[in-house]
Amino acid sequence: MRACVAGWGTAVPDLRLTNAELEDRVKTTDAWIVERTGIRERRIARPDETTASLATEAGAAAIKQAGLSPLDVDLLIVATATPEQPIPHTGAFVGDGLGLHCGSFDLGAGCAGFVYELVTGAALLTGGGLEHVLVIGAEVLSRIIDPTDRTTAVLFGDGAAALVLEASSEHAPDDGPGLLAFDLGCDGSLARLLEIPAGGSRLPTSVETLDQRLQYLKMQGPEVFRRAVRTVVDSANTALGRAGMASSDVDWFIPHQANARIIDAAAHRLGIPAERTIVNIDRYGNTSAASIPLAISEAADAGDLQAGDVVLLSGFGAGMTWGSAVLRWGRA
Ligand code: UT7
Repeated sequence: MRACVAGWGTAVPDLRLTNAELEDRVKTTDAWIVERTGIRERRIARPDETTASLATEAGAAAIKQAGLSPLDVDLLIVATATPEQPIPHTGAFVGDGLGLHCGSFDLGAGCAGFVYELVTGAALLTGGGLEHVLVIGAEVLSRIIDPTDRTTAVLFGDGAAALVLEASSEHAPDDGPGLLAFDLGCDGSLARLLEIPAGGSRLPTSVETLDQRLQYLKMQGPEVFRRAVRTVVDSANTALGRAGMASSDVDWFIPHQANARIIDAAAHRLGIPAERTIVNIDRYGNTSAASIPLAISEAADAGDLQAGDVVLLSGFGAGMTWGSAVLRWGRA
């Protein structure tokens, strides 16, 4: 029995923030951003758009695309680093907005959050007797970015995307669709490379933390970059090995969209050609937990993903976490 993708959907703010507009806000240039990151524009939430509102819109689209009703969903997981508010969890608002009658929880694993929730949802589906699990990656990163910090302000964007997972029959053939293998990891000794220092139990928000701008994301970009390529390659190879596959078996590589140079280097080292690698960072920037499902949904909408295709996902981010998954595309 395996977890298969039954439907997908996205929600991105209409508002585009171009590199040219960023040139007016921080000391940067379109040329630097394009050359160093591959990003040309990102979407930014308007004041009335939130993590839960984007997640709800993406979730509704995925449920509809799967041909299901909200009452068919047995569990909701929302992966996010930018929750609606500290309490309750974002899934409470999303479940209410969608009219779900099931349990929900949020999952925090940084930019690897989507792979983590895919694996978790699949395990509960196949081991827990559920029929449909809705997994959503949703972020409004623009609310945690220091608008005066050029090293992060140019990178991140807002958006959400959702997949409906459904269980295959108990005696699915070996070459049938579904999640085949995965690899998850975290090296907490690197936690300080990418963090929001204040606002939690260690350093609650205070006048002092606000004065020091500690409510904003801090990233040691070059350090993260140095580890990212090796991490993605090692994790992807581990997941492929567990699936009994090699990179030559991969039809589509859909990595976390953090930096076009990281994606190119990882694909090159894995031996996966550019035409088999899905890249949309130029239009959305880094949307953290939303980036992989956004890329999956766009590739599926474009008709690139065909039943039977082997899809390799790989993400990494704050923690430092990483996660890779191998799945065969197609409905149960
Ligand atoms: O989502 C998961 C986690 N995040 C990531 O994976 C991000 C990983 N890191 C990166 O993508 C890259 O490290 C960045 C895009 C953040 C930075 O690119 P880089 O090539 O590593 O640049 P750098 O930080 O080494 O900076 C090179 C130069 C510096 O100037 P000097 O010291 O050479 O004079 C920076 O001050 O570029 C400067 N710089 C900028 N210049 C124009 C840094 N940010 C900017 C900017 N515009 N926005």
